[in-house]
Amino acid sequence: TGAVTYDPGFMNTANTKSAITFIDGDEGILRYRGIPIEQLAEHSTYLETAYLLITGDLPTKSQLENFEVSIQERTLLDESFKRVFEAFPRDAHPMAVLQAGVSALSTFYQDSLDPFDTEAVRISTARLIAKMPTMAAYAHRVAHGQPLMYPDNNRSLIQNFLRLMFAFPVEDYLADPLIERAMEQLLILHADHEQNCSTSAVRLVGSAQANLFTSISAGVGALSGPAHGGANAAVMKMLDEMRENDISPRAFMEKVKNKEDGIRLMGFGHRVYKNYDPRARIVKGLADEVLERLGVDDERLDLAMKLEEIALNDDYFVERKLYPNVDFYTGIIYRAIGFPTEMFTVLFALGRLPGWIAQWREMVADPETKIGRPRQIYTGETKRDYRQLSERT
Ligand code: CMC
Repeated sequence: TGAVTYDPGFMNTANTKSAITFIDGDEGILRYRGIPIEQLAEHSTYLETAYLLITGDLPTKSQLENFEVSIQERTLLDESFKRVFEAFPRDAHPMAVLQAGVSALSTFYQDSLDPFDTEAVRISTARLIAKMPTMAAYAHRVAHGQPLMYPDNNRSLIQNFLRLMFAFPVEDYLADPLIERAMEQLLILHADHEQNCSTSAVRLVGSAQANLFTSISAGVGALSGPAHGGANAAVMKMLDEMRENDISPRAFMEKVKNKEDGIRLMGFGHRVYKNYDPRARIVKGLADEVLERLGVDDERLDLAMKLEEIALNDDYFVERKLYPNVDFYTGIIYRAIGFPTEMFTVLFALGRLPGWIAQWREMVADPETKIGRPRQIYTGETKRDYRQLSERT
């Protein structure tokens, strides 16, 4: 088996070849299938970007229409599946509910589980993209004791999702097109990020030939962690706490630099970007636009900008190449639209879904794929004898 390399966190180990997402962390560049993220955020839609990531190319008009229809007709959940959502406790975290929901797809939709059947994978892909927004909104509704409304398939996926989230009791709720577009752009910005923790989890589980739903549920689980997708909610909590306790940005930054209680400036730093995260730049612009449109004057945006300004001019952050990441400003937009903090990471999951699917499919199709099985450096005792319970003190 040869020598084992010790590489905690896989800082230097490539587990796969991939043609999906290109990142140059030093230059702050992100491209899906070669297309710069800035162009996609400006011109593309969530479903078109999903198609691009999954198939490798932008769709023609008819390809896009077929893809959209295949998704739009699958947004409803089996009636008994709805009851699963009603069974969760009200105070359950929506990420936990979402993960359970995604996992349960394997029980309700057993005809599309075979990873090596192209048609089954096409259907499970459409099912996931269609049903995740429904499940996400149900996770929210359950927490608020609201009825689980049916999706309205005459609407776009995003309008549908916003209605399922916010239409209570007004059934004909229609989101402002600017808000719909901002949501669309945020989802595009999150759609893939090569071999991040949740994507690696999806690939690792999938490498054992587990089905797509099960693999994606592992991704949702990984994303819930505060060092990963949970950071967007953690940023909001950090800003809220600063406001409530009247902590000035400078005083807070001193605590961060002194690593007091291990606190970090959430929404800052990235394993790959050692420059301004290109997504953060776009999100910051969006935050201005959305807040202005909604007439929201959020002190937290000023606070965040102040923290950023201090960081960009402080040796601690400069030396460690810590810049705002995608999550630094997203929460401010989500809050302005009306999402509660615990839903922020769920929105990240909706965004990341096409990337997870694309990466899983690339892995399944790759003849070089092997079951993921990291090695270890064993540090325990080499050998010792079992002692009877009566001999142990
Ligand atoms: N605030 C203060 N110090 C930091 C921060 C931060 N946000 N991030 C890193 N550092 C320091 C860290 O203490 C270490 O310092 P030292 O060399 O003195 O020990 C140095 O920078 C290197 O940090 P690291 O933890 O070794 O870097 P990493 O690549 O393992 O971690 C990270 C990357 C994203 C987990 C980390 O930067 C972090 O915890 N950031 C805050 C959480 C966050 O915003 N996460 C979202 C990431 S972007 C969205 C996503 O992909 O999920």
